[in-house]
Amino acid sequence: MTRALLLENGLVVDGTGEQGRAGDVLLIGDRIAAVGTGLRNRLPAGLPLDDVTVRDCAGLAIAPGFIDVHTHDDAIVLNAPGMFPKLSQGVTTVVTGNCGLSVVPYVVAQPQGALTLLGNSFQYPSVAAYAQAVTDAQPAVNVAPLIGHTTLRSACMDDLARAASAQETAAMCALLEQCMADGAIGLSSGLFYAEAMPAPAGEVTELARVVARHGGVYATHMRTEMADILEAMHEASDCAFEAGVPLVISHHKCAGPANWGRTKQTLPLIDTLALRQDIAMDVYPYVAGSTVLREDLVDGIIDVMVSWSAPYPEMTGRMLASIAAEWGTTQREACLRLKPGGACYFQMHEDDVRRVISHPRSMIGSDGLPHDQHPHPRLWGAFPRVLARYWREQKLFSMEQAVHKMTGLSARNFRLHERGEVRQGWFADITVFDPATIRDVATYEQPLAQSEGVAMVIVNGELSFDAGAATGGRGGRMLLKPGPARR
Ligand code: ZN
Ligand code: CU
Repeated sequence: MTRALLLENGLVVDGTGEQGRAGDVLLIGDRIAAVGTGLRNRLPAGLPLDDVTVRDCAGLAIAPGFIDVHTHDDAIVLNAPGMFPKLSQGVTTVVTGNCGLSVVPYVVAQPQGALTLLGNSFQYPSVAAYAQAVTDAQPAVNVAPLIGHTTLRSACMDDLARAASAQETAAMCALLEQCMADGAIGLSSGLFYAEAMPAPAGEVTELARVVARHGGVYATHMRTEMADILEAMHEASDCAFEAGVPLVISHHKCAGPANWGRTKQTLPLIDTLALRQDIAMDVYPYVAGSTVLREDLVDGIIDVMVSWSAPYPEMTGRMLASIAAEWGTTQREACLRLKPGGACYFQMHEDDVRRVISHPRSMIGSDGLPHDQHPHPRLWGAFPRVLARYWREQKLFSMEQAVHKMTGLSARNFRLHERGEVRQGWFADITVFDPATIRDVATYEQPLAQSEGVAMVIVNGELSFDAGAATGGRGGRMLLKPGPARR
């Protein structure tokens, strides 16, 4: 018998940004069968009410499952497939492979540099092999993979401290071509990281052309988010424009006190660029960024909190300034000693975060780092925080617009087929939450804390989270792009 679930008497917030409407949503199998009112009296022929699980959603919003467009979950979907930090926020899909870093297509025992952000699962020479592993692991959430430029470089070059030769570029393009043919949704780059910094714009443009042929997207952690951010934005947008691909600027921010306030320049530039090309951005709702420990990000002014350290695990969760004081060193010297490791950098101004998050082209992406010992709280709290802090408390936008930034807009920008909206016939990825109480609980001090106010999470029709706990349902799938032949 097909599974049927009727969500009754909720506020249907459909993900388009349109105002919510009181009503019901009927899910049959992995699809949304109907959206409307009084659906229990209009069930399809052959489906008696007795065969339907009915859940009262009075006082609750029925929304599309949230789409986390910026993740580094490539390996964690395999190693901890319950995906509780994400599922408990209402997330039903993760876009992996951001910032130039994907586990596919690369086989290596010990990853180096920024690739360490992904943990240690570099065993997949192809998207097909990775997709099989994901399917075998049965994660609770859907997985939509981007292919990382840094990963392609690692697979095709012996020395990452230089530009790729013509031959190496051709090899990267061929690898990417196969990944796209296997269903990857696009390309990402992390030109900010040492392993990709030496790549000229042209190297990325060649790869982006491959993506264009397959109808994919290009997401970039730009070369810099500091003094030269406008130049970096022009580089990224020219590259995407020349190649003919839609562009997503990753975790848009103006980093460092000297650049605070400059979203007043960057956002108008995005508006201008949007006149000639398809451009969007993702953002997380916090003033701290987080990545590997890097001495060039330690200026002695901003606060830095250690999120992991291989040589000094006992320093995890502590502020770099206090460690430096204890050691009698500068913060930069302390950073060097603590490496390899990770940190949260309090490098943004709240006003900039507010401006970016309010912009109609921004989507929510957590950028959570699931392998960090003491991770940035965005890993457990990003989505509820947007609703609690930026909609309910600060009223920067309507609840419907907030949901749109987490669902409909995200699916549209990443070309996720029939997801991101509560619409008849589309996939049954649904998050039911309490608008009055949804909130993040994770903090910098206590980052491993479950968010509140998410009532139910349904993934491909499977109830996976209910009444504050995982049900054990694991309905996630690989979201592979249909290739030209299959379209
Ligand atoms: Zn990044
Ligand atoms: Cu990232």
